Amino acid sequence: MQWGEQGLRLLDQRRLPGAVEYETFDSALGVAEAIASMRVRGAPAIGIAAAYGVVLAARQRYRENPSTWREAIGLDLNALAGSRPTAVNLFWALERMRSETGKIEGDPEPHLLQVARSIHDDDISANRAMGEMGASQFAGASGVLTHCNTGSLATGGYGTALGVVRSAYRRGVSNIFATETRPWLQGARLTVWELEQDGIPATLIADSAAAYLMKTGVVQWIVVGADRIAANGDTANKIGTYALAVAARHHGVKFMVVAPTSTIDWTTESGESIRIEERDQSELLNPYFAKPGCVIKAWNPVFDVTPAELIDCIVTERGIVRNPDRQAMRALRADA
Ligand code: MRU
Repeated sequence: MQWGEQGLRLLDQRRLPGAVEYETFDSALGVAEAIASMRVRGAPAIGIAAAYGVVLAARQRYRENPSTWREAIGLDLNALAGSRPTAVNLFWALERMRSETGKIEGDPEPHLLQVARSIHDDDISANRAMGEMGASQFAGASGVLTHCNTGSLATGGYGTALGVVRSAYRRGVSNIFATETRPWLQGARLTVWELEQDGIPATLIADSAAAYLMKTGVVQWIVVGADRIAANGDTANKIGTYALAVAARHHGVKFMVVAPTSTIDWTTESGESIRIEERDQSELLNPYFAKPGCVIKAWNPVFDVTPAELIDCIVTERGIVRNPDRQAMRALRADA
């Protein structure tokens, strides 16, 4: 993701790995649509794109009327907030941008662009720090399994869980496995593409092969990202994460969540209250069944919640919480 004079330049992740196509968005509504349609996806990347979307909104509304831009961007903020429901980084970034609007006199673009850029830069720094911290936990481990795509595509750069995998590879963890991540194939299309670009050898497995892989003893850690972490450590992430955590506990495999503190929602007490996005059944159902009167339908929740008691550690840029619960999580609060 890159900011330029014309607007926000996004790589269309729906087309990877077959085609590398960029598109530039010059309006907040365009960015909202890019998030909803998953041209850009992954919790931190969604937040960063939305922050740049607010810059575009302010640019457009200020040009239309310099005295009413603050009120006029309300519609744009609502459209961005309505693009996807689960990743809290989206709402965190929008609130951070909105809170800046009161401080601005004159043209809002320079100041808001500076804030959006700092959200972007801070995410990359957080990822680098988490990559090293997370990998340092793997002493003696030789194999890891990751789920979904949590790399440069899903973040400002480097990645959360995939950042840990990159750092771990440099430290000698050589057996890297990635799940396909049905139905959208974030693992089979995006994660292995990123690893291939970096020359990091990896093995793709079907989602349904994960428990068997754990049984073989080849992986000692599961490493995943997060879309929203509740105040008690319960973690919403890509559908299938919960099943991985259950299987990991059964097989004595450790389970790590890697996410910046912008992914923690302190206002959500537990995973019970996290809204789980359900996407259209066409993402799952064979087109054969999309015929009038057909009795077959698909249920397509795209996230699930892993209870904190199944998580061995949560790695953030502010430090690692082991055996997370409400009390342990408090150490991560900025006001702790
Ligand atoms: O539906 P997606 O592809 O946006 O879901 C992405 C995930 O679930 C990731 O694991 C999560 O956002 C963390 S990305 C660093």
